[in-house]
Amino acid sequence: MQAVIAQHLTYSYLEKSKNRAIDNISFQVREGEFWAILGHNGCGKTTLARHLNALISPQKGELVVAGLDALANANIWKIRKACGMVFQNPDNQFVSSVIDEDLSFGLRNFGVSEEEIPNRVKVALEAVGMAGYEKRSTHFLSGGQKQRIAIAGVLAVEPDILIFDEVTSMLDPEGRRDVLNTMQRLRERGKTIIMISHYIEEAILADRMMLLHDGKILGIGTPGEILPDIELLNRTGLTPPMAVRAYYDLKAAGITLKECPLTNEELVEGLCQLR
Ligand SMILES: Nc1ncnc2c1ncn2[C@@H]1O[C@H](COP(=O)(O)OP(=O)(O)O)[C@@H](O)[C@H]1O
Ligand SMILES: [Mg+2]
Repeated sequence: MQAVIAQHLTYSYLEKSKNRAIDNISFQVREGEFWAILGHNGCGKTTLARHLNALISPQKGELVVAGLDALANANIWKIRKACGMVFQNPDNQFVSSVIDEDLSFGLRNFGVSEEEIPNRVKVALEAVGMAGYEKRSTHFLSGGQKQRIAIAGVLAVEPDILIFDEVTSMLDPEGRRDVLNTMQRLRERGKTIIMISHYIEEAILADRMMLLHDGKILGIGTPGEILPDIELLNRTGLTPPMAVRAYYDLKAAGITLKECPLTNEELVEGLCQLR
């Protein structure tokens, strides 16, 4: 089954404007896949994410999320339930400063019964490694912990698909690592994950990557296909990962590694194989 089918999605914030935030976007995400969407500021990443979460209805083109047609008004709440979204700023996502109250509020909005709520909260906190934090205040959490609580809030609704819109961009390295590990765990549990990022290194986690530029798709492929393509990355305005740059610098100096490494670990391995 496909988690997302987008066909020729096109959207302008000012109707009839030629300025398209996304422009003829078509792609399909399979259930359980982990996607990374990358591109410069203003290239349309958030606009696309808002479509997937039914915060925006398609103006043009077709969109099916979790088997639900996004053009049907009756599906809006079903899509929001099936496809949860976590945002960039960890501080803007809480309604209450007490963690279980915050999570409960979200669940009530989705019509979850009062007797079911405590268990949903407990299970969601466990899934993000924050078990036992029910009565704590969000004020005393680190950025990474706040994002994990925000993820728990979305998870408690039991969506099949999770969208992360630059959720690590305001975090320190430790917070980033925690949140990325949480995403990995969710993937292992079978969730479909769509991660928007501006850290190219994070894309290595993904099954597939999509590069956006000026609202258009410049490339879709595995990290192994996309990341060594420095010409494509340049056109997207992205700097290749350090290991890829090192590969080409070495090549220019007459040293050719067997394969283009994507991570620093693979680079070290490649260097060790040189004789
Ligand atoms: N609420 C809005 N009203 C008008 N234009 C917007 C709005 N949000 C985004 N845009 C414009 O749409 C384009 C895509 O923005 P966005 O989807 O936020 O990109 P990204 O998330 O990649 O930075 C940009 O040109 C941006 O200025
Ligand atoms: Mg954005």
